[in-house]
Amino acid sequence: MTKQTVTVTDNVSGKQIDFDLLSPTMGPKAIDIRKLYKELGYFTYDPGYLATASCTSAITYLDGDKGTLMYRGYPIEQLAEQSTFLETCYLLFKGELPNAAQKQDFEQVIARHSMLHDQMQFFFRGFRRDAHPMATMVGVVGALSAFYHEDLNIQDPVQRERCAHRLIAKMPTIAAWSYRYSKGLPFMYPLNKLGYAENFLRMMFAVPTEEYEVDPLMAKALDVILILHADHEQNASTSTVRLAGSSEANPYAATAAGIASLWGPAHGGANEAVIRMLQEMVDSGKPLQYWIDRAKDKDDRFRLMGFGHRVYKNYDPRAKIIRRIADEVLARTPADNPHHKLFDLARELEQVALSDEYFIKRSLYPNVDFYSGIIFLSMGIPLQMFTVMFALARTIGWISQWDEMMGDEESRIGRPRQLYIGATQRDYVPLDQR
Ligand code: SDX
Repeated sequence: MTKQTVTVTDNVSGKQIDFDLLSPTMGPKAIDIRKLYKELGYFTYDPGYLATASCTSAITYLDGDKGTLMYRGYPIEQLAEQSTFLETCYLLFKGELPNAAQKQDFEQVIARHSMLHDQMQFFFRGFRRDAHPMATMVGVVGALSAFYHEDLNIQDPVQRERCAHRLIAKMPTIAAWSYRYSKGLPFMYPLNKLGYAENFLRMMFAVPTEEYEVDPLMAKALDVILILHADHEQNASTSTVRLAGSSEANPYAATAAGIASLWGPAHGGANEAVIRMLQEMVDSGKPLQYWIDRAKDKDDRFRLMGFGHRVYKNYDPRAKIIRRIADEVLARTPADNPHHKLFDLARELEQVALSDEYFIKRSLYPNVDFYSGIIFLSMGIPLQMFTVMFALARTIGWISQWDEMMGDEESRIGRPRQLYIGATQRDYVPLDQR
């Protein structure tokens, strides 16, 4: 196929430069601007990277206009329906679905890495009991590099894969122990015979003094939620992991940076913010329209949390599946459970917002965070653990994208430029003359 180009005419210098047009397997083409500064002496300016591709990737593709999402080419709806989270982890990291032997071997490897070095328990004890578990996650995950420094040759794909196994396996233990510590409960160790989601729920809610049976519907619902949150191309936290990893920092430190980025309420912290918003609406007794009007008011910082998305200008396909799971999980909880009220309010809010011109014009739909918190509440997972759940799931996405970057010949240390708008050169003014 003949190479396609885009010609840029610089009306200042009169120069005309052809730039290569790069063709993806799916999605928009990209103008290769790498020679722009050398040829024309200009940078590009794109705060928030709305129209800038930072890398090539073969892991996840989403079409924001159609509201579609695929992991390694497989539609998220099919994976949610037919796969498991660990099988999806294998797919995201290795690029193909495992056969039966590969699947069993992977599950065994992950199970065997699920314990933490016994010294790590003292990291938890260094925090106040009321520390936000995301703070604990950032600290403890970053500390993993202190325990595996002999196995951190990131140029070695085998060692990179072992880092991935450790992170996938240990995140549920670290997450559950963050919760247990905040409650003054003893740490529960993982049981290798249990499935991934089942193991996590047991570590969260069992007590050493009696047997604990995980509700299989809750375990299945959680496993699907983890699949839906596993990866999402170059979102803020994944881009953070890639940027941190581009300096060849170790993957545990890069993952800790991703956790910190995900914590923000504009990103993964939105699931916690949605519940706080719904609860405030319930407590205020004000009509929904009052909140819709505030969300539309430019002078009011209030936004409908769980609504809108940088890429999806259609319904987030994950939100559709999560809303169905919420229905199923809530059907298993007593009718007088207050979570029903939150779910009913969320669905009413969605209907009101989606019929309002402001939201329609800006293509603001519920995103992955809008309904997920209601499911976590119904599982007994407290508010402060919601973004921890997102981090637990997204770890596979982060480490798969990191591994892809480390294996990418074109990968270089990330170092964006800027549009400087500060003072031009001036001389120092002695103190007695200011
Ligand atoms: C995640 O990137 C990913 O893939 C992220 C994620 C993933 O899986 O990794 O999908 C997970 O982070 C989901 C998003 C969770 N965040 C929230 O729910 C917080 C509420 N949403 C917004 O803050 C916002 O929609 C963002 C941050 C998600 C997207 O912001 P953008 O792309 O920068 O959009 P914008 O702020 O430029 O908004 C465009 C317009 C603006 O109005 P105008 O200036 O055009 O008049 O839409 C308005 C915004 O004011 N708007 C909202 C709104 N979101 C955008 N107005 C009211 N309520 C909202 N939620």
